[in-house]
Amino acid sequence: MPRISRSARLRASAAEIVHAVAVEGRSLDAALREREAATAAEDLPLLRYLAFGTVRQHFRIQAWLRALLERRPKRRDRIIESLLAVGLYQLTGSRIPEHAAVSETVEAVRVLRRQPYKGLVNAVLRRFLRERLADAEPTDDEARSNHPAWISDRLRRDWPDDADAIMAANDARAPMWLRVNTRRQSVAAYLERLSTAGHAFALLPGLPQAIRLDEPVPASELPGFAAGDVSVQDGAAQLPAAWLLADGGSKILDACAAPGGKTAHLLELAGTDARLDAVDVDPERLDAVRANLERLGLGEAGRATLHAASADEPEGWWDGTPYDRILLDAPCSASGVIRRHPDIKLLRRDSDVAALTGVQARLLRRLWSLLSPGGVLLYVTCSVFDAENGSIIKRFVAETPDAEPAQLLPNNNIRALMRERGTGYQLLPGTRGLDGFFYAALSKRHPERAA
Ligand SMILES: C[S@@+](CC[C@H](N)C(=O)[O-])C[C@H]1O[C@@H](n2cnc3c(N)ncnc32)[C@H](O)[C@@H]1O
Repeated sequence: MPRISRSARLRASAAEIVHAVAVEGRSLDAALREREAATAAEDLPLLRYLAFGTVRQHFRIQAWLRALLERRPKRRDRIIESLLAVGLYQLTGSRIPEHAAVSETVEAVRVLRRQPYKGLVNAVLRRFLRERLADAEPTDDEARSNHPAWISDRLRRDWPDDADAIMAANDARAPMWLRVNTRRQSVAAYLERLSTAGHAFALLPGLPQAIRLDEPVPASELPGFAAGDVSVQDGAAQLPAAWLLADGGSKILDACAAPGGKTAHLLELAGTDARLDAVDVDPERLDAVRANLERLGLGEAGRATLHAASADEPEGWWDGTPYDRILLDAPCSASGVIRRHPDIKLLRRDSDVAALTGVQARLLRRLWSLLSPGGVLLYVTCSVFDAENGSIIKRFVAETPDAEPAQLLPNNNIRALMRERGTGYQLLPGTRGLDGFFYAALSKRHPERAA
């Protein structure tokens, strides 16, 4: 029997990752991490490309599979459907030559030890090409929009004029953004280093530390990454720290901190006398905050204190002195970052949104009592659903006499990219290459002025 090629093994690994997500309900990042450990370094980019691309095109591909398969494979052989999905993605979304895509995918059947399906995989992929199914107009809305109905329904309700553009942005590959650690060097100095290392980039006025790379690279290959000169962080995620600290701030709470992108940014920008509490309910994720701060040289004793605890139970971690700045980067559906996490379309359910809005409203109410009069709380999500954004803030302001919209605004360049939503601002995904984020700044009236 001929030896199995590396390319066939790669297709089989991609199918296993897709299967873990689509059938077993596991996260794409976790499934990828597992397979990456068993994959040669030079094969990793293609493995990621096939796994991400196939998951990203899931709803379109499923419609083709329904048309192509007269009978589904037996339950224990469902991995064959995932392999076919990887095959169809190669034939439509990639530049891989058709003959290589078909033959390597057919060969992957052997890697998966499902030899009896070799003929079926070959026949299905060839029929797809022969009948030019890729050009046929999809018959159902999930295939057409390449999104589950519950997401497209919500988007059409919340953003009637933008829903199609949002879904197109969700299906595009996200650019890589960097944040320069200006405690170490100026942005201009870092740009020099990037140019010398051969990286092309763009800047966005209004985001002073952000750099958008033309081509993504592994973080470890960035000049000075290990030494803490730079972080990887979307430009939209760089707004909250600058916004919250625009007028200073000396006692800061980062209430949902892990993995620490915004914690680090807050510490980079805050004065040396500022003190920060970083809270996250997930202790493992909090370890990532610690590692981030150490890498960036922000771990000085006394400046930041990390607490593995629930933010809505401050009895366990709060010292009783109110904060003058609170960042609530709330747990959310992540519907604004689907382009970075396409598995959200497969794994999340509509009912999750209602559960999340309960958590968001509770955190907001509880944390408000920790804010000093005159202090500012910035509520942030990476969601585009109104239920998690404008609706939460509107209800909270209506029932909280001492809450008022803060006068702080992002600068005009950034402001022009945002949609105003009641007391908050929404960035839609894909706007100037940014992720989809919602921000609402609220300040606490002094008691004598409370309505
Ligand atoms: C959107 S992520 C935060 C991202 C982070 N701010 C950053 O910039 O890297 C939301 C975080 O909220 C945490 N979380 C969820 N419920 C929480 C709670 N009740 N108290 C504290 N953290 C919570 C999750 O573990 C998750 O790490």
